[in-house]
Amino acid sequence: MSKQLAVEQLAIADWVKGLASIPDRAFSLENVQDYIIHHAVRPETLEKYLFFSKGNYTRNLIFKNDLFECMTICWEVGQHSRIHNHRDQNCWMSAPIGRLKIQNFRVEQKDAACGTCKIVPTEIYEMDGAHPVHVNPLEPVHQVLNLPEFNQRAVSIHVYSKPFDSCEVYQRERGTYGDVPLHYTSEYGKLHPDEKLL
Ligand SMILES: [Fe+2]
Repeated sequence: MSKQLAVEQLAIADWVKGLASIPDRAFSLENVQDYIIHHAVRPETLEKYLFFSKGNYTRNLIFKNDLFECMTICWEVGQHSRIHNHRDQNCWMSAPIGRLKIQNFRVEQKDAACGTCKIVPTEIYEMDGAHPVHVNPLEPVHQVLNLPEFNQRAVSIHVYSKPFDSCEVYQRERGTYGDVPLHYTSEYGKLHPDEKLL
């Protein structure tokens, strides 16, 4: 049974303005998810934040304050993230362009002193413009994939609260994990000067 939902279509600037108007104390997993479910981004307003590279997916900052950051991630066909966590921060995602697969993992063992871990795949789901998702705080390790068979570019919008600039990346086969710094390909519509898009 599908539920009829009133979804307002907003330009990205208005969408972010709406998010930023949520008070700090109300910026909860549920409230932000509710906002994202009821407010979609018009894909044509994202142009300034779209940078694609054959080398890797790109991270493009749209807005940042002390409470949250918002970015597009642009995925060529077949590109995927590494398996990672979000430093115990909340994350909400939607994909106004294309579609993406999310694979979650359960961490069964983790040894910080040795940098070893054992992770097992759990839930798989898909997101697109009509199906935003949030990261489950109880199982926060995941991977995002633009599968070759989707056969199209994808652009996702990510909201992280609070912002973080590194994450843990897991190498499943090797049973290891470690810290990886994060950077932006572009900020506020401007490509980073050192960035060479392939
Ligand atoms: Fe993520």
